[in-house]
Order: sequence, then C-alpha cells, then structure tokens
Amino acid sequence: MKTFNPFLLFIFFLVLTSCQQQESENNQKGVISDSAMVVSAHPLASQVGIEILKKGGNAIDAAIAVQFALAVTHPSAGNIGGGGFMVIRLADGQLNSLDFREAAPKASHRDMYLDETGEVIENLSTLGHLASGVPGTVDGMVNAHNKYGQLAWEEIVQPAVELALNGFTLTKKEASGLVSNQENFQTLNTQAPEFLLGNWKEGDTIKYIDLGHALERIRDHKRAGFYEGKTADDIVAEMQRGNGIISYEDLQEYQSEWRKPLEDYYKGYKIISMPPPSSGGVALIQLLKIVEGFPIHKWGWNQKETIHVMVEAERRVYADRASYLGDPDFIKVPVKELTDEGYLTERMSNFNLTQATPSDSVSAGIFNLYESMETTHFSVVDKFGNAVAVTTTLNGGYGSKVVVSGSGFILNNEMDDFSIKPGYPNMFGLIGGEANAIQPQKRMLSSMTPTIIEKDRKLYMVVGTPGGATIITSVYQVILNVIEHKMTMHEAVNAKRFHSQWKPDIISIENSAIDSVTLEKLTEMGHTISTRGSIGRVDAILVLENNKLEGGADLRGDDTAIGY
Ligand code: DON
Repeated sequence: MKTFNPFLLFIFFLVLTSCQQQESENNQKGVISDSAMVVSAHPLASQVGIEILKKGGNAIDAAIAVQFALAVTHPSAGNIGGGGFMVIRLADGQLNSLDFREAAPKASHRDMYLDETGEVIENLSTLGHLASGVPGTVDGMVNAHNKYGQLAWEEIVQPAVELALNGFTLTKKEASGLVSNQENFQTLNTQAPEFLLGNWKEGDTIKYIDLGHALERIRDHKRAGFYEGKTADDIVAEMQRGNGIISYEDLQEYQSEWRKPLEDYYKGYKIISMPPPSSGGVALIQLLKIVEGFPIHKWGWNQKETIHVMVEAERRVYADRASYLGDPDFIKVPVKELTDEGYLTERMSNFNLTQATPSDSVSAGIFNLYESMETTHFSVVDKFGNAVAVTTTLNGGYGSKVVVSGSGFILNNEMDDFSIKPGYPNMFGLIGGEANAIQPQKRMLSSMTPTIIEKDRKLYMVVGTPGGATIITSVYQVILNVIEHKMTMHEAVNAKRFHSQWKPDIISIENSAIDSVTLEKLTEMGHTISTRGSIGRVDAILVLENNKLEGGADLRGDDTAIGY
C-alpha cells in the first residue's frame, strides 16, 4: 500500500491553485509580456515571429517571417499567392503603410464575369483560375524588408521553408478546413494537389514539399524567386491549363506601393490605418467620428442605444463605401471629404435615436468636390517599440482553391472584390459601381483594416482582423470595447460581435451577442436582426499603463499570443 505523503499533496495543491489563478487571470487578460509580442492566427507562426524578435530582428522582420509561416501553417488565408496591407509605426513615431494588394491582370476587363446577356456567370469570380488577381505578397515582403529589415532576408524566410519541408502537426480547425475543401481541391484543379488530399485529423503531420521549394526560391532570389523563374513558369502554365489570364508580363510588372497611412482622431486617440485601395481606414475613421459625440460609455456595451447608433453609422458609411471607394491610382477617392466632420454631421442629420432608418432611404453622400471568410491578421510589437499590423488574404477560404502545380501554393480569388457588375453583391454582400469596376492592373477594393492607435503620442494598440465586410465593424467594436467599455485587450477581442453594412438591411449577430430584451427593443425600433456564425478573428496588442504589453488572441480560432 502506498504511503500518504503530505508534501506531495501540498505540491499538488500549489500547482492546482496556480493553474486556477492562471485560468481566471486568462479569462480577464491575455498574455502579458515585458517588451515584445506577436499575435497571429497560428501558434507556430506566432512562435516563428517571436524567435525572429529574439534574434534581434525588428517588428518588420518578424511580420515578414510570420507572413511566410502562415502561408504554410494556415493556408486558407496565409499566403504567397494573395496580397494584403501592412501598417507600420516605428518607435520614433514615423508612420508608413504598404499596399501589397493583388492587381487585376492586364487581360482583365470590366465585363469578364458576365455572359452575352450581361448576367453574372455564377462562381466565375470566386472559384477557379479566372478568379485570381496578380499576387502581391512576395513583392510586398521584399519591399518591406528592403526599407526596414534588420536581419538577413534568408534568416527571415528560412523558418517557413523548414515548416513546409519538415512538416508540422495540424490543429483541429486546420484539419477540418482542409477536409471540408477536398471536393473543391479535386474539381477545381487541372492536376490533383495530392499533398492536400486526405481525411485529415487533428494531430496528423502535413508536409508541403513543393511550397517549401518555392519558399527556398524566394529565400534565395527574393522577388525574382517568385515573379520570375520556375515559380513564374508554374503560375503561367497553371493559368494556361485552367483558362486563367495571369501572364509573365503581369508578374513582372506587379509592384507593391508605399502609401501614406490615414491619420485621424477619436477623442484624442490617434487612429492610424490603411488608406485606399482598402476602404478599411476611411470607413473606420468615419464610424468612430460619427459616434464620438454619443455617450457610448454611459449607454454601455451592446445596449440598445449603443447598437442603434453604431448600426445607423454603419448604414451610411457602407453606402459611401459602395459609391466612392476604389483604387486611388485609377479613380479620385474623396478621403478628406468622407472623413470631414461637417460631412459626417450632415450624413447623420436624418438619424433618429428611436427609429431605424431604412437602408433604401440612405443613398451615398454627395459632395461638390467629387469628380468622377478567410483572411488573416497579425500584430507585432518589438522590444524597440516598433509596431506592425498586417492583414493578408486569399479572399475566400483557400482562395480560388487552385493550387499552382509544381510550386504548391494556393491562388487568391480576389477578383471577386471588384464590383463585377454594378449593384451585384460580392461574396460578402458588398455592392459597388464605377469606382470599383474592373480595369487592367487596378487594385480591387478591400475592407482590410490593419490599424495602429496612439495615445499621448505613444503606441497604444495594434489591431486588425479577417472577416470580409465585417472586418471594419469588428475593428470598430474592439476599439470601442477598450476605449469606451474599459475592457482588457483579451476581453475586447473575445466579446461577442454584431455587424451591419447598409445592404442587406439587417444586423447580424453572433449567438448571444445581444440580450433578449435589447433584441426585442431593437426590433421594435425597426431593425431586422439575424444570428450568424462567428464574426472575425481579431489579433491585437495593447500597451498597458505600466508599459507592458497585453496580447489579445481571438478564441474563435487557433489564434495565439506569445510575448517575452
Ligand atoms: O479585401 C477584402 O476585404 C476581402 N478580400 C477580405 C476577405 C476576408 O476577410 C475573408 N475572411 N474571412
């Protein structure tokens, strides 16, 4: 018979209480660190980022490493065959943003997804070879490294190469994502992508050999390792087999662009976000400035008035998005006018605190001056105080589902973000017109909203999310959750969310996002409310008053914050 050992019992008790403390602390706060933090959609990608920071890399180096690591570990959204946006705030306060959004191929044209009678051909802009824009990610990463990189490029790309070639263990969510796309992978590819096919389960090891070699070419030849040579040959051959239109010329001519980030204020907090061709920054700033004058804090989180005023703002802002936003290299986007306080006050002049405004009675605003569900976000702060917010995507989950045979990566279906026909909703129900019509080499309008916030001229928050049209409203809610509702970063990210976007004229909510009494009152006010699955996967970092960092990783996914 074993003897009873009071010392062991004491140790057991200590471990138990410390676990409980850890758990109850985790219910309130995310991971807290002293000086650096990476929050991304996959634990292995966050780990790669943190290793780069520990080696002396800066936040930009880590972001690049995370981008490539996500292309391997989270292939539904992480990518080299897609694009995205990066917002940067250096420790000295300098700001920049990088647009590595995909561009329409040169052979594209406005009506390319319509039949002879002018009707939309179903699925053509979302599935298969014709759905892809020219990928921007690799040029973007090289561009970011050339300007800000501290570590050697090879060292930054290498962890992704190793993940792909050595293999790694699938999480439950990643395994089920692959399983639910088996039919698409089989039917939409001209050569079966054997490495993706299988009845994947949590804990299985997956390897991406062709992708590993494609990443080696990027590691060794930077831009030319993707837009020229074998990878370019593979992309063009893939296009020719599948009746796609991306050409060598498209690849050679693709350029990511540095753009001046948008800067504006919400109650003294400086909001730094992505300018067009994303609508994210403009819309976020409009939304925040509209509610600035309302007592959101007093009304409380997800209470009737709070939701009502936010939804009424969203209705008007998404109507503006549909009319005025597009690629600024092709159309004049009236950013200043749209975010002007006078304009926004005027825009809300028919707002009624007790009654919903039907979306059909809200048209886009008019200015005299006007001339003419998978993405992923990660946030990084380094020990020097530099901050980077990146949102990157293939658009839909696993993009067009087309794998570039021989190079082992998935191509985006970003062309669906154009307005393929005036008033025709894209896969997120967003509509548009002339401003976002297809033109060769134009960038399709995005909702991605990588955002950095300053308080008292110091770094305060790094935030962003996937979620298509819901990106903007998710970022909006998380910011208000912290600033107005005094939540921790972890709570703000994990609080239930709602979304509305002008058309369709509904408020969609996550299960239990709004209590039943509030729901009833909102319905009485004229709102239509419907429940949907989860909204967004926000990964964010907050600088606490003691200058420590709090990572907020979204429990809706495998998202993980790692700091030191
Ligand atoms: O750029 C955009 O707005 C979309 N392509 C984003 C897609 C997305 O977030 C899908 N994720 N759930």
